[in-house]
Amino acid sequence: MNKLVLVTGGTGYIGSHTVVELMNEGFDVVIIDNLSNSEKSVLNGIAEITGRRAYFEQFDICDKERLDNFFKVYKKLDAIIHFAAYKAVGESVEKPLMYYQNNLVSLMNLLNGMIEYDVPYIVFSSSCTVYGEPDELPVTEQAPIKLANSPYGNTKQISEEIIKDIISVNPNLKAIALRYFNPIGAHPSALIGELPIGVPNNLVPFITQTAIGIREELKVFGDDYNTSDGSAIRDYINVVDLAKAHVVSVKRMLEDKCKSNFEFFNLGTGKGSSVLEIVNAFEKAAGEKLKYKIVGRRAGDVESVYADTKFANEELGWKAEISLEETLLSAWNWEKYIQNKK
Ligand code: UD1
Repeated sequence: MNKLVLVTGGTGYIGSHTVVELMNEGFDVVIIDNLSNSEKSVLNGIAEITGRRAYFEQFDICDKERLDNFFKVYKKLDAIIHFAAYKAVGESVEKPLMYYQNNLVSLMNLLNGMIEYDVPYIVFSSSCTVYGEPDELPVTEQAPIKLANSPYGNTKQISEEIIKDIISVNPNLKAIALRYFNPIGAHPSALIGELPIGVPNNLVPFITQTAIGIREELKVFGDDYNTSDGSAIRDYINVVDLAKAHVVSVKRMLEDKCKSNFEFFNLGTGKGSSVLEIVNAFEKAAGEKLKYKIVGRRAGDVESVYADTKFANEELGWKAEISLEETLLSAWNWEKYIQNKK
């Protein structure tokens, strides 16, 4: 019988790509998503790519009673991958209570369910934001956790702490936290991808929306950083590569290969790219000219952050493989697909 994995937030951006990779590897998947930031049609994209349908339950995992009922119905879950959370940095500054409430209560409900209904493994969707402005580059997993610069970032730090404390007194449980750098791109089929609601905050969706004519021009936030061209540096990782790391993590736990009951890994490419390098790479990959202008720095942005990938490469046995050009082209193909569908 196939192993069954619960994916919370499975119709979201990273969640949907992970569901595809799980199903490609022979797992059965049940998704819980309240569709607050995604669409049900994503399930059709997943089915078209994989030739199978994921089970789908629409509700909010902050609703403990509803979640408990779910655990009673789906008696034999082998693992959980937990994506469902709010993720907009700026919004979290304006609505901190909403972020703490949603991102922490959902996690606690899930952990409670794991204990009560004997689900042993969880992969947690964390972020490089836990490192803040790092003292040393590339950033290793041993880099100190810095004071969070937003309630969103704080929820990721607190979540990791909550998991650590609960794992330490429940020896049957194991967790892996995956600290993502900057996920971008879409599935090569262009059947699933990122669906930002309103004006995108993140760089690549803003670029593709500008190239297709929805936005007038890209604003490059700052050209006075201490970097080669003055714009800020990030580690942009293909979402399919990222999704695969979740499957590897689930298998690692199922095959009892973990070195400790709570592990964490950086997921990046190990290569930093500046905003202007991304603009150039996009123009080259898509064959489109991009209108942009330099403006002041965005509050809260760090100058430079990219991953040391050695630990993930050697210990997890996972490596990002898809090139930046191919990734930007996939983002562009996805943008064209969704605009055509409208
Ligand atoms: C942020 C969070 C990260 C979170 C991610 C998802 C921090 C430090 N990072 O990443 O934890 O997981 O969002 O929402 O809080 N840029 C422009 N113009 C734009 C948009 C972005 O120049 O219109 C620049 C930014 O200044 C930055 C880079 O592009 O230098 C990447 O920005 P973005 O895609 O928003 O991601 P982060 O801020 O790195």
